[in-house]
Amino acid sequence: MDFEQLVNTRRSVRGFKDQAVSRAVIEDIIEVAKRAPSSMNTQPWHVHVLTGEPLDQLRRRNMEEMVAGAKAKRDIVSHGEYQGVHRGRQVDIAKKLFSAMGIARDDKPMRQDWVLRGFRQFDAPVSLVLTYDRVLDPGAVCHFDLGALCYGIVLAAWDRGLGSVINGQGIMRSDIVREVADIPEDEVIMTCVAMGYPDDSFAANAVKSDREPNRDFVRYVGFGD
Ligand SMILES: Cc1cc2nc3c(=O)[nH]c(=O)nc-3n(C[C@H](O)[C@H](O)[C@H](O)COP(=O)(O)O)c2cc1C
Repeated sequence: MDFEQLVNTRRSVRGFKDQAVSRAVIEDIIEVAKRAPSSMNTQPWHVHVLTGEPLDQLRRRNMEEMVAGAKAKRDIVSHGEYQGVHRGRQVDIAKKLFSAMGIARDDKPMRQDWVLRGFRQFDAPVSLVLTYDRVLDPGAVCHFDLGALCYGIVLAAWDRGLGSVINGQGIMRSDIVREVADIPEDEVIMTCVAMGYPDDSFAANAVKSDREPNRDFVRYVGFGD
């Protein structure tokens, strides 16, 4: 795909076909994505690719804990609830997704079901858990590096007909992720990417999120025009 077409057509995918993803295609995706820039070319990232029984175990335990009311236990520091314009944009995308899925505002069970889908990594056949070297904590710069890698993964997947969603919910219980995926203590779990072949009949997959106009967040300094 042409770069602009790739960027402009990509969207988060939250419903997947029951179709396995080969190790070879994931390997290709990571091969491309690792061309991402990183500070001083430190490449502080690790990718743990889960499928099959370990991923199912992770989904099940994550769900059970959250249903039982357990608190989130993420490795990375949380910013807390979004407020102001950030909250507004969060609500906008949630409304779009719920409307596509036919979930009414006051339908608590269905809203809860949607949240649980997130904790199950939207039942994707594959999850890529992204971590960085703990020695770099507190890690603003390496967080930036992982973001670059992560976007590369998402775009390279889309280019190969694979859909994905970056899934903060999937690592809410980082302790469980660490145990199931056997992630060493000297790595910090940053996020995960749920991935698979998109189920085109899953209505939320067609949702296109909004972006603010450039004039609202871009300033030009020193330009004559
Ligand atoms: C750091 C990060 C964490 C995210 N976590 C979740 C998540 O837990 N659940 C979810 O449904 N989407 C999650 N997303 C996807 C965003 O909701 C999505 O990227 C945003 O709404 C823009 O939509 P688009 O990806 O379709 O352009 C996450 C995205 C990022 C970058």
